[in-house]
Amino acid sequence: MDKNEKLAISLAAMTVSLFGIAIVFAAVTKDINVPGCVTDVKPFDKGQLVVHAPNRVELHVLARMWSFEPGDLEIAPGTTVDFYLSSKDVVHGFMIERTNINLMAVPGAVNYARAEFTEPGTYHVVCHEFCGNGHHNMMSKIVVREGASPQIIAGSGEVPGAVGLSDADKSLLQAKTCLACHSVDGSPSVGPTFKGLFGRTETLVDGTTRVVDEAFLRESIAEPSKTVIKGFPPSMPKLPLSEQETTQIVEALKKL
Ligand code: CUA
Repeated sequence: MDKNEKLAISLAAMTVSLFGIAIVFAAVTKDINVPGCVTDVKPFDKGQLVVHAPNRVELHVLARMWSFEPGDLEIAPGTTVDFYLSSKDVVHGFMIERTNINLMAVPGAVNYARAEFTEPGTYHVVCHEFCGNGHHNMMSKIVVREGASPQIIAGSGEVPGAVGLSDADKSLLQAKTCLACHSVDGSPSVGPTFKGLFGRTETLVDGTTRVVDEAFLRESIAEPSKTVIKGFPPSMPKLPLSEQETTQIVEALKKL
């Protein structure tokens, strides 16, 4: 090997090791963290409403199977809304009727649009990209009402057939999007109906049977893929629920 070749090889090796050391040094001492996905970092990690002024708000919408977080928005006429949209799982659509807003919610990306709502009324928001079993239930709304101050009103709507549930129960089930896939009146939907679910004996996809008791419900919420009831798709997402919310949902299901 020529002397110059050896020199070039050693120089290259030195540069590469220098890079390696610099990266390790930066990672260890400077606490640098490389985010994997935009929905893992603030402010796009969750759906939220940011109110800058009574008529000037930002809505961070996180689309997921099969709902839009943080839920329905209520504003007063003349409010300008900046929409920042991303997806937690697959590609979803985000179309607001009677406006020119038509976005795609793409995992790993944030899409933006601005709209001013001048006319009072209810503007429905729909997912227009086929995204699985619950696609047809994936919707939200923007209520423009005289005198309203900007707020999220998810869960204040009517739930047909929710006999015996308190308003707080209904709100929670709606806000956590349970009702996108589970009916409360026995009608068929994506997932098993909540009506009479508690205490029922169900056959799971692996052929075993189990009584739906409290332990079963808690397990289904914490680890949905482990307790799939036969005849239903294994598509229940893992929901971000606190211990208290889980308890409230379990208690609500007992009443149905
Ligand atoms: Cu989300 Cu269709």
